Amino acid sequence: MTIHATKPSLYNQTVGEIAAMRPGAAAIFRKLNINFCCHGDVTLDIAAKDQGLDVSFVEQALCALDVEDLPASTKLSSGELTEYIQSRYHETHRREIPELIMLSRKVEAVHKDHPDAPAGVALLLRAIEGELEVHMKKEELILFPAMRWTDTTLDAPISQMRHDHNDQGVFLERLKELTDNFNLPKEACRSWQALYIGLVKLTNDLVEHIHLENNVLFPRFETGRYKGISGAGL
Ligand SMILES: [Fe+2]
Ligand SMILES: [Fe+2]
Repeated sequence: MTIHATKPSLYNQTVGEIAAMRPGAAAIFRKLNINFCCHGDVTLDIAAKDQGLDVSFVEQALCALDVEDLPASTKLSSGELTEYIQSRYHETHRREIPELIMLSRKVEAVHKDHPDAPAGVALLLRAIEGELEVHMKKEELILFPAMRWTDTTLDAPISQMRHDHNDQGVFLERLKELTDNFNLPKEACRSWQALYIGLVKLTNDLVEHIHLENNVLFPRFETGRYKGISGAGL
């Protein structure tokens, strides 16, 4: 008997859409190094190929997830979601990045002769902090209030925010390069360990933060983007 394979249903969906609609998908994408936040508009088929992965393997993993219920973030109104993003992510970045800058300065100074020392991390974090502060202010003072009160599209300011997010994604890639993907040498001291733990947390937080904006919040206010998410109330 010949068994005909049915056409996989997720191949042509974008990874941003899948991450927004399937609880647990973001964790799978993170493990497989699939960029679902800054490059969320790429189809699963192409994103998997770009990583040298068998798309049917990725699809199987995604289909095994329990999708009975939507991720909690998709059920929040836009007002609730913007407030959540500000308190959970904006405030966390503002609190944690200065601490990481101080810690990285210390580790860079103490281990300046070590071949694996994370030289340049403090400077990079300063750049991330500066760019992020300007970006978050624009969201808090202009874009988010507009989202709470308007029922029209906001294509132009959202396009600028997406552009900023791409820049933040480049910063995160640079952070990985400078730290050898957060690999600690065996002899790393407590401060060095604490620094990399903090940098991994910052990376995960920023990826989740950008994902929530790019793939869940912004499409509600963009012309012709992901259908199905825009149903959430303002
Ligand atoms: Fe934000
Ligand atoms: Fe943002």
